[in-house]
Amino acid sequence: MTTAIDYPNAEPHLGHAYEKLLADFIARYHRQKGEDVFYQTGTDEHGIKIYQTAQEEGLTAKQLVDRNVKKFKEFYKFLNIDYDQFIRTTDQKLHWPGVEKIWKLLKKNEDLYKKAYEGRYCVGCESFKTDKELVKGHCQFHPGKELKIIKEENYFFRLSKYKAQLKKIIKSDEYHVRPKSIKNEILSFLSGDVQDISFSREKNRLPWGIPVPGDKEQVMYVWADALSNYITGIGYGWDARNFKKWWPANAHLIGKDISRFHAVYWPAMLLSAGIDLPKELLVHGFINDAKGRKMSKTLGNVIVPVEQVEKYGVSSLRYYLLRGLPSNQDGNYSEEDLVARHNADLVNNLGNLLNRTVTLIDRTGGKVPKGTFDKKLKKRLETTYSKLQNCVNNFDFHHGVAEIWGFASAVNEYIQDKKPWELSGRALDDVLYSLAEGLKELSALVHPVIPSKAEEIAKQLGLKTVPKFNSAPIKAGTKVKKSDHLFKRI
Ligand code: MSP
Repeated sequence: MTTAIDYPNAEPHLGHAYEKLLADFIARYHRQKGEDVFYQTGTDEHGIKIYQTAQEEGLTAKQLVDRNVKKFKEFYKFLNIDYDQFIRTTDQKLHWPGVEKIWKLLKKNEDLYKKAYEGRYCVGCESFKTDKELVKGHCQFHPGKELKIIKEENYFFRLSKYKAQLKKIIKSDEYHVRPKSIKNEILSFLSGDVQDISFSREKNRLPWGIPVPGDKEQVMYVWADALSNYITGIGYGWDARNFKKWWPANAHLIGKDISRFHAVYWPAMLLSAGIDLPKELLVHGFINDAKGRKMSKTLGNVIVPVEQVEKYGVSSLRYYLLRGLPSNQDGNYSEEDLVARHNADLVNNLGNLLNRTVTLIDRTGGKVPKGTFDKKLKKRLETTYSKLQNCVNNFDFHHGVAEIWGFASAVNEYIQDKKPWELSGRALDDVLYSLAEGLKELSALVHPVIPSKAEEIAKQLGLKTVPKFNSAPIKAGTKVKKSDHLFKRI
């Protein structure tokens, strides 16, 4: 499982946070199923954008990226993003050898050739733009940025050669691009006039990049270098066994502005080098402001994720991003919605359920009694697992999260129905046991969404760790540890 690697030219923003969180949800979900997962993210540190920002700030490019990458790493830790590898494209030990290796393979296959070129370059995208792609003379993703005319002699990658093959692979879902709207966009691009792409830059104009093997005058194009991170991070060029273990990736997760690089350029590079293709490309939507407008400094509507965590806590932000915004379409970020969901779903539903359960058990001796798990709840739990699985498989995470909280509501309704405060003896034991078992499963289920709170639930239930999905039934005699309410009302 991989994410895009971020440009560390500034502080991490909400889009970066959202993507790493979606991937964290997928990774944790599969770990909860007992599967072996490798989650890779990182930073994309070469290119004009980084080079220019460093100049503006009076730093060397290396100083700029070292300072900012530290912030990205701290921030992902803060968000509880549990990745296995953080690959930096300036890493000369892990990244460069694999990039050089793939470059040489493309060259050997005669897919790289030199030619003089003139074009309009968008520094925001780090990409040349054709006339057809412009909206009112500007890049559609960076309307505020002037396009630069660049005239150079560069290496070109023979993308046109792979057009038909790529079309077949994407049409047949051999490389599964989702959602369908993006797949169709890519197929339509592949039906047009697909041109070869510039794959290097003159070193005297842009010294900040990986040198082209055998040519001192050129450095690699930042995307040729960056896309290769998906294989260099797991060992391509430095650990063949590990590479073999993890490649091909099950899924690359990225935003829609970079779908062409991932659905066209990257598989073409792999085809040329004779390396297997990844299985899936998941393209998430963009986060806009509460009114649906793009966030930008000029509009003054930028939401700073660190501030949101400080204000509401990491779990509430994670919950809102995963439950409140659709994973496969654009979504609007609204603090009002975040607060409403926090109070309704986290405080009233999940938090109260834990509090009621632990209080009830505490009052009757503090230990989970011997009993049987209620049949209806058991059935409901099974449905929750299967619906959750469908949602995850369909890249429809917010409905998956809704299913989890639907189970919490069902357990709350069970309390209302059974009225344990009016019961005693065996009947009471069965209800308390069912509540403890239901909550044990809930701590497993909420773990991909709010991991630190899942641990807190497990702890209050008297469990040492958060169990995996569908774990062995909770043991009678387990001593609960009543503690503070899981969430505070905002
Ligand atoms: N460095 C390239 C990716 C190279 S991958 C081999 C890049 N970096 S980025 O920092 O600009 O963006 C990183 C990711 O964040 C991309 O997947 C991008 O789509 C995503 N997002 C950036 N802004 C976003 C939102 N407002 N909303 C959601 N995701 C967005 O592109």
